[in-house]
Amino acid sequence: MNIPLIPLPQKIKYINGESVINQNAGYNFSLNPDIPESGYNLIISNNTVLIEYGDEQGRFYAQKTLDQIKAINGGKCSNLEIKDWPLMKHRGFMIDCARHFFTVEELKVLIDFAAGIKLNVFHWHLTDDQGWRIPIKSHPLLCEIGSKRKTSNFGSFDEKSEYCYCYTEKEIKDIIDYCKERFIEVIPEIDMPGHTSSILAAYPNLGCRDEKYEVKTKEGIFETVLCLGNPDTKPFIQDILDEICDLFPGKYIHIGGDETPRTRWKECPKCREKIKEYNTDDIEKLQSFFMQEIAEYLKEKGKTAIAWNESLKGDILKPGQIIIQHWLDSKKTGFDFANKGGTIINSDFYHYYLDYPYGMTPVKKTYNYRPLSKIKNPDSLLGIEANLWTEYIQDFSGICQKLFPRICAAAETAWTAPANKNYKDFVARHEELRCYFESKGISIIPLNQWQMPPIQRLADILKFFKGSISSFVFPDKNN
Ligand code: ACM
Ligand code: ZN
Repeated sequence: MNIPLIPLPQKIKYINGESVINQNAGYNFSLNPDIPESGYNLIISNNTVLIEYGDEQGRFYAQKTLDQIKAINGGKCSNLEIKDWPLMKHRGFMIDCARHFFTVEELKVLIDFAAGIKLNVFHWHLTDDQGWRIPIKSHPLLCEIGSKRKTSNFGSFDEKSEYCYCYTEKEIKDIIDYCKERFIEVIPEIDMPGHTSSILAAYPNLGCRDEKYEVKTKEGIFETVLCLGNPDTKPFIQDILDEICDLFPGKYIHIGGDETPRTRWKECPKCREKIKEYNTDDIEKLQSFFMQEIAEYLKEKGKTAIAWNESLKGDILKPGQIIIQHWLDSKKTGFDFANKGGTIINSDFYHYYLDYPYGMTPVKKTYNYRPLSKIKNPDSLLGIEANLWTEYIQDFSGICQKLFPRICAAAETAWTAPANKNYKDFVARHEELRCYFESKGISIIPLNQWQMPPIQRLADILKFFKGSISSFVFPDKNN
């Protein structure tokens, strides 16, 4: 009988005979430098497990495969030989802790699960219009003021009480350490120059207009962006990034760059003056020049910047300066960037935005997406990330409802060669592993709620968008 494993290893050969892998089995581990990075070989025969690994990460993944084998059938399995290694370098998931806050204990459950399916990146969205969630010593008002919103009115949620959360430095270090033990790099995201209402609520001098700013209580795209003509803006951001670089040991820092309206810059004398310094009067380019300078600043500090694909608008950023995370891009500039030699992470909206309803983004659609389909050179794709935004997710059960099993579908795309993937087989393996996955502290919705007939899909989409249509049609109505 084939063993259900997720993600499916690159090569499995079943051999005659059976073994039982439990605490009485024999275990042998050895280092073999010929094994690919993060890879391992695992042989089971005569109730004995032989593991060869190329590095500690490979050893860790062999153990994760073994955990799944042991969880099924009391560890009774066919003898076998597995040769396994990851397809992609960057196998990520993003959680938005700005719109709704999730505790360290909740995040640890997700991180542990992610490590079990061999993901290696946790992209932590920590700041947005609706809340700032990380303490910055040099600018304490970010937490004191920026982390509090008066009410929460997202889609059909209508909470009248104040919402106020910020991680402590100790909690952030705890998450970083927890991830490190599981070979997961934490990428913090500090969103700029848009999605910054929480910054402006705390430091209104950084806005284009002299006005009172508020941490937003609704979802949307807001005109309250940083004034890039203000000489204080860049040093302010640099102060924040200095602390972020000291706190997070990984090589990447995400600097946002998505959904930034130009309305305020167009009317702002300082921004109009600033754009002239770049020998142009095209205000469209202001964001790209800013992102370029911030990316250079991070490079001097030994870090690589990542930004959402809108940062390419204006055609200023060059391959080698920044990594682009593709999400929604009608002009396909993210893929053009990749095809001109740039490096991208693919988080395609239609496939990897896991907060959307199953009616709109069925598991099969996530599973069958080919992230390389628009990219000429596979080396331009660093990897993929499944994103979970939380405007419409208030609590951990909401996370579970949306994340599982789609995160497994994305994880298999990141790990397993496309030729070996098969959706039906994935579903069968998933259902066999369901109890094991749920023993990790999560719940997974029943199969009939993620594989629906077309009419039910439509109902699922309508239910999701109920109450939020007007925010989509008039995104700035709450400005
Ligand atoms: C995004 O979804 N605004 C990156
Ligand atoms: Zn301005």
